[in-house]
Amino acid sequence: MSEREPIGVIGVGWVGLVTAAGFAELGHQVYARDILQDKVDALSRGEVPIHEPGLPELLEKNRERIHFTTDMGEVIQNAQLLFCCVDTPPTYSGDADLSRVERVVEELGESTDHALVMKSTVPVGTGRWIQRLRSDVGYVSCPEFLKEGAAVADFMKPDRVVVGARPDSAEFGDRVEKLYEPLSAPIVRTDVASAEMIKLASNAFLATKISFINEIANVSEELGADVEEVARGMGLDERIGPHFLRAGIGYGGSCFPKDVSALKQLAGNSGYHFQLLSSVIEVNELQKRRTIGKLQKHLGSLVDREIALLGVAFKPNTDDVREATALVLAHRLIGEGASVRIHDPVALDRASELLGATRLCRTAEEALDGADAAVLVTEWPEYRELDWTGAIKDSMRNPLVVDGRNFLDDEALRAAGYTYEGIGRSTASAVEA
Ligand SMILES: NC(=O)c1ccc[n+]([C@@H]2O[C@H](COP(=O)([O-])OP(=O)(O)OC[C@H]3O[C@@H](n4cnc5c(N)ncnc54)[C@H](O)[C@@H]3O)[C@@H](O)[C@H]2O)c1
Repeated sequence: MSEREPIGVIGVGWVGLVTAAGFAELGHQVYARDILQDKVDALSRGEVPIHEPGLPELLEKNRERIHFTTDMGEVIQNAQLLFCCVDTPPTYSGDADLSRVERVVEELGESTDHALVMKSTVPVGTGRWIQRLRSDVGYVSCPEFLKEGAAVADFMKPDRVVVGARPDSAEFGDRVEKLYEPLSAPIVRTDVASAEMIKLASNAFLATKISFINEIANVSEELGADVEEVARGMGLDERIGPHFLRAGIGYGGSCFPKDVSALKQLAGNSGYHFQLLSSVIEVNELQKRRTIGKLQKHLGSLVDREIALLGVAFKPNTDDVREATALVLAHRLIGEGASVRIHDPVALDRASELLGATRLCRTAEEALDGADAAVLVTEWPEYRELDWTGAIKDSMRNPLVVDGRNFLDDEALRAAGYTYEGIGRSTASAVEA
């Protein structure tokens, strides 16, 4: 096999597109297949359907090496390592929906000298299940750890690459390892079930860290501590580390909610009650709703109140709105009788169908004009640059800011006459005052 063997990518969403662009950048011919004709056509014309920094440039640079298609046959004909990057959304029960993965397996047709390299996040046991369906096709679990908003950098400089090959697919596992060799990342070579668990456990752990610091924030509010100070002091401990200790209004996105729930369900299905994860999920749900209480504390009833939400994307630098906290907030506020106006620099169109009776605003200024309160939901850098103490202060009907990410300059806002509510810190200032 040549050093830069061609690869197949099945499903060109966030993971598939970054995988395709990344391997093309490393010199591989990439045959990238999606079932959505419109998406394939757009990509073939050079249009990138998602907001991901650096991705359009990388795709453009490697255009010659990436072949977008809807034809699975073309992929199978040209590549033996087939990276499966299809979506695995949650079912109503919280288990992962593997129907798209199953379809990919069915579509492998007669091919036997191929390996499915699983990048989609799947339950532990999926490799075993696929072996029962197609033992004649190789199988390697190679879970993806990219962060949206920094996905290209994460592909090029991963913290680690996990490769879990079935015993009869060891040679395919070696070939997957070789693909990643130029990136000089630590390789974790392991069995399939452990690789699958590494992915779920990593996301569950990060979500646990977030829910933990959010609970510390909530208790800090009661006791007069400032969670930002607490997190700083905790994070300097090497055993804890500073990452994922940012208190806020809860995690969202296409991965954490579904992966935490999938691991909890998976444990339950095997007879084990994963108590900690039940709490992680519950804390996150309550955290989103605490914002309503903060608004009511200052405004009383929210009926007919004009509330501006800043940010829809589940985090900055992406237009992904899957499981975004803003969606929950918008619907809760509408349920309380409030009128909701909402802005996001890039994600508004993607979210428009999910937002119900909200007013979509093309600028943050428009959203804030005449508002009774502003809720900062996504920490887009431009929100810090707004003229909070000047024009915005004058245009709001009532100067109340609930900073859901502890992102704005609280001292400047207070000095300008705003009522400022952060997460885990507002009472601290009040106590000092
Ligand atoms: N988005 C992330 O940040 C991220 C990070 C790590 C892991 N993951 C996991 O990677 C997987 C993909 O996530 P995503 O965010 O890229 O999903 P996505 O929804 O953005 O993309 C999935 C793509 O697969 C396509 N597809 C579905 N069935 C297909 C088939 N039979 N053949 C070809 N294409 C098909 C869809 O049309 C879609 O374009 C999920 O399991 C997810 O949990 C995602």
